[in-house]
Amino acid sequence: MEVVIKKTADEVGALAADLVGRVVESKPRAVIGLATGSSPLAIYAGLAKRVEAGSLDFTGVRGFALDEYVGIPEDHPQSYASVIRHEVIEPLHMDPALVQVPDGRAVDVEVACREYEQAIVDAGGIDIQILGIGANGHIGFNEPSSSFASRTRIKTLAPKTRADNARFFDSLDDVPTHCVTQGLGTIMHARRLVLVAQGEGKADAIAAAVEGPVAAICPASVLQFHEHATVIIDEAAASKLRLADYYTYTYDNKPAWQL
Ligand code: GLP
Repeated sequence: MEVVIKKTADEVGALAADLVGRVVESKPRAVIGLATGSSPLAIYAGLAKRVEAGSLDFTGVRGFALDEYVGIPEDHPQSYASVIRHEVIEPLHMDPALVQVPDGRAVDVEVACREYEQAIVDAGGIDIQILGIGANGHIGFNEPSSSFASRTRIKTLAPKTRADNARFFDSLDDVPTHCVTQGLGTIMHARRLVLVAQGEGKADAIAAAVEGPVAAICPASVLQFHEHATVIIDEAAASKLRLADYYTYTYDNKPAWQL
């Protein structure tokens, strides 16, 4: 796992946008895994600037969102279908037909989840998966104790996650109790993972994910088993890492051909 510590949240977004941009430059029909939440917004904003400047083209890029709420309509402003439309599809000028979000409203959720998995396989697999991390170590909506082998499925949201996400809703009661999320096994099949985190509120989760034992209590710790995972964080999110200086040393001395 590569850990890159940047001074500010803006620098985190800029570096992660560079990594994603490079994938799209080298593969105009790349398949990108899209995360919601606040953490990746700077990535999408950085990429949108390059799209506006004409130096990056997302029109042939496919997208698969990580997760979706169950129990709110698709056109609810906080459905991840809406968020992905406003924060990603529109600013990056992506083809909406090429972007899929798990279906939280399907009558047969199990079938919809299987079809979502198959759609990812049919698209050739995910080239680069963008990830945030929850304060309890979740990725996507894979809450603590999620199986490392899990696939897209319905999950119950942890009380901590509902409380953290209440800021997007009128009240805590309005936050859905369930979701559909790509599994940890699904995420681990992406060819490359880029996880971003900013702020002190993520410091414990980052320490557990990067330096803790690989254990289902911290779902993000599964990244330690991925052969190409990059964790990009600001100094506040890195504040509980024991080997922070070492990560910075190795990044500063990274061979140019690996950048
Ligand atoms: C959300 C999403 C995750 C996200 C995480 C952190 O609820 N399901 O994909 O990474 O929780 O969110 P934020 O980036 O807003 O802190």
